[in-house]
Amino acid sequence: MIYTVTLNPALDKTVEIPSFTIDSVNRITAMRTDPGGKGINVSKVISKFGGKSVATGILGGATGNAIKSMVDKLGLESSFCFTEGETRTNLKVVDLVGHTNTDINEPGLVVTEELLDGMLQELLSKLQTGDIVVLSGSLPKGAPADTYYTWVSACQQKDVKVILDADGDLLAAGIKASPYLIKPNNHELSRLFAETLETPEELESAAHKLMKKHGIAKVVVSMGGAGALYVTKDRTLYAEGLKVTVGSTVGAGDSVVAALAYAEEKGMSLEETIRLSMATGAANVMCSGSQAAEYEVIESLIPKVVFRSL
Ligand SMILES: Nc1ncnc2c1ncn2[C@@H]1O[C@H](COP(=O)(O)OP(=O)(O)OP(=O)(O)O)[C@@H](O)[C@H]1O
Ligand SMILES: [Mg+2]
Repeated sequence: MIYTVTLNPALDKTVEIPSFTIDSVNRITAMRTDPGGKGINVSKVISKFGGKSVATGILGGATGNAIKSMVDKLGLESSFCFTEGETRTNLKVVDLVGHTNTDINEPGLVVTEELLDGMLQELLSKLQTGDIVVLSGSLPKGAPADTYYTWVSACQQKDVKVILDADGDLLAAGIKASPYLIKPNNHELSRLFAETLETPEELESAAHKLMKKHGIAKVVVSMGGAGALYVTKDRTLYAEGLKVTVGSTVGAGDSVVAALAYAEEKGMSLEETIRLSMATGAANVMCSGSQAAEYEVIESLIPKVVFRSL
């Protein structure tokens, strides 16, 4: 089973406001709400492959209940922990006239270490050899900065594969516990090394350093429209980005993580994994907001994926 963990979920409220102007009354012409948060996005995409996952995380208040019912409606299996306080709502203002995207994010819940530990113990009690745990996204207030170190270490002891997708200090802490796979984008990898890594060769060398130092088996470095680099101990492949019409790049990385987790569960070859993940990334970029692409679109892009050994 694949378990996705979203410790800091959000209700994504996307509103369209033509010619959005600050210091003025703005009128919404269209709006939609989606359950958001990186792990939940990963679960949504896995279900589009026809795969199964259990979405876990922390929810609170009426917004938390709304997310839970949306997740249920999407047919996703879930096991959320409910706590006091209100899950955040993240407002995304899309202006199709001015071509701007403005995010206004609420601070979200405050959690205790006891709550986090209880959740971790519950997850550990469910894990079986061969399961996959996807840890992704930011942490709620109150969570220690080394939370991902604790979670990765504990899960690895259960003989499961941990995929970590985080940024900054959270990524730096998590990698010390030797996750199986990490998927930084080129900026996140650069921040980790405090230098600008641009070329595939520079990114590959940084990935190898992390793999050697921390015992990480696989590093996938996504590079937005420029594609991604797949680094394993013996091989590095570079996949070009597919040329598609961009609807929204929100959640592009999450859709790649979903494909990586699904491919791992199905035992796909590296080549098959690259095709599926790049097609999924591109298909999701074609969608608006944080909507997940339909599998037919992903399938149609699979033969178009181009990659080569580095
Ligand atoms: N403009 C684009 N055109 C085509 N494909 C894209 C584009 N942007 C992203 N992708 C696809 O999605 C993948 C992941 O994108 P990206 O590197 O931006 O992830 P990310 O920065 O982790 O995103 P997220 O905001 O979800 O965390 C890329 O490797 C690529 O396959
Ligand atoms: Mg990302």
